[in-house]
Amino acid sequence: MSPSDIPGFITDEEGAWLGKAATGKTAVEIGSFMGRSTCFIGTDAVSLHCVEPFCGQPVPPPPGEGVDFAVVRQNWHRNVERMGLSDRVLLIELKSVKAFPALVDSDVRDIGLLFVDGSHYTADLRGDLLYISLLDIGGIVAFHDYTNKRFPDVKRVVDEWFASAGADYEPLSAPGSIGAFRRVPV
Ligand SMILES: C[S@@+](CC[C@H](N)C(=O)[O-])C[C@H]1O[C@@H](n2cnc3c(N)ncnc32)[C@H](O)[C@@H]1O
Repeated sequence: MSPSDIPGFITDEEGAWLGKAATGKTAVEIGSFMGRSTCFIGTDAVSLHCVEPFCGQPVPPPPGEGVDFAVVRQNWHRNVERMGLSDRVLLIELKSVKAFPALVDSDVRDIGLLFVDGSHYTADLRGDLLYISLLDIGGIVAFHDYTNKRFPDVKRVVDEWFASAGADYEPLSAPGSIGAFRRVPV
């Protein structure tokens, strides 16, 4: 089995790029779904903390696109186990804004990769931005669907953040719909 076999929303090329960015690092992922990105990242990271409430997006899905999140949760656990990653992939089953204090309390810091692919709507995305404060110097934050016109809030919220934090971060080239930034020494 490989991460490519797991259903989900990132391409193989995006997954390979994320795995490379996480190599030898502590990583955090917001939005795991059935574990596709989890397993691409978790295969190469030292440890991966996943923030996933198994609730879907905060807007009703188009007719016929609904998903049973009890099944998604089962699949996430099964996929992580089958990939042999249970010892280094940890799940916080909360929305990102609620999970942040739990992560801080458990002393997670100096993150090498933060992958953001949770709710694609403004209020929740602002909660996701809190995690950037835990990035190590040289650490990377990568936002999925940054260039996806179906989710315009992602680019807008990220660009607002980058405009205020620009001197501390440099944009990186990344595949697919990923918008990525590296924290630079100041
Ligand atoms: C696009 S999917 C993630 C896809 C996944 N990264 C993959 O590789 O297939 C978005 C996920 O974000 C989760 N989610 C929704 N709101 C969230 C929030 N506020 N915090 C964290 N995750 C959230 C959903 O339950 C859903 O599983």
